[in-house]
Amino acid sequence: MVDWAGVAPSPQSHRFVRIGRSTRDGVHMQKLTASNITDVVLSRFGEAANERFREILTSALRHLHDFVREVRLTPEEWKAGIDFLVAAGHITDDKRNEFILLSDTLGVSALVDLLSHARQPAGATDSSLLGPFYRDGVPEMPNGASIARGTPGETVVVRGLVIGAGGGPVAGAGLDVWQAAPNGLYDLQDESQPDLNMRGKFRTDSSGRFEFRSLKPLSYPVPHDGPAGELLLAQGRHPYRPAHIHFIVTAPGYEALTTALYIAGDPYIDSDAVFGAKDSLTVHYKKSQAGQGDNSRATGEPDFIEFNFNLVPTRRL
Ligand code: BEZ
Ligand code: FE
Repeated sequence: MVDWAGVAPSPQSHRFVRIGRSTRDGVHMQKLTASNITDVVLSRFGEAANERFREILTSALRHLHDFVREVRLTPEEWKAGIDFLVAAGHITDDKRNEFILLSDTLGVSALVDLLSHARQPAGATDSSLLGPFYRDGVPEMPNGASIARGTPGETVVVRGLVIGAGGGPVAGAGLDVWQAAPNGLYDLQDESQPDLNMRGKFRTDSSGRFEFRSLKPLSYPVPHDGPAGELLLAQGRHPYRPAHIHFIVTAPGYEALTTALYIAGDPYIDSDAVFGAKDSLTVHYKKSQAGQGDNSRATGEPDFIEFNFNLVPTRRL
């Protein structure tokens, strides 16, 4: 958690920032104008102990004021904006966070993620959004098990390697896996699904391999029955995410990797509502074939996805 301790202005802070002209009859307030108000607001900051807090808030305020000036925001538009934020607050609870959804659909979450992974070593697997449907504490399953708990759908096998420093396999890496059921809903959104449906935790074997069974995911809309959905509609945007499977890959000595695999050919692969899909994370279904060349034939085995996750060693300070 960010520690903003010490940022509260001291009770005397206004003494440092009084702006005015002394005259015989007292102090006159400085005349506020649309151009000087930003500096006046910033001059009221007290001796904030936390430099980073000061940097962030100063920049946020400058951008906010510049935005208001640039579009010449009217009082009605300003009120509409405040009402929008209030509505986002009202629909938010411990199961649904409209502010995260807004951050996701406005590309802020993806931007923060891109910036925080900008210096990844070449070959490291790209990260992708965590999303709101992750659940901690899912029990471990043996390699090869299915995460579909009785839900019908088309089976797919997902397998690959976890690779670490020097290109070697990582044995004992953990893979948290979760996805929506073929009806486009996560277990948390759908009471008709068994608890923990479409979730599993797997561990790589001694050669760094993992394998599990799932159901082919489909594209689904992010929750769009609230303010974030209204905003999407007003922008002429759809609320869909391309079909995907989420992963958190962990291993001692490596940075945790939060990512997802996206299914090639999905109609929304190039217009993900939350900007999480990436070329490097796009996978094709492959067919199991018996024999080789002209003798190859379909085996009746389910299609599979093969993907290797390349982890980044933890930085030593
Ligand atoms: C998801 O992948 O499930 C998701 C991600 C961001 C916002 C909403 C849903
Ligand atoms: Fe998802």
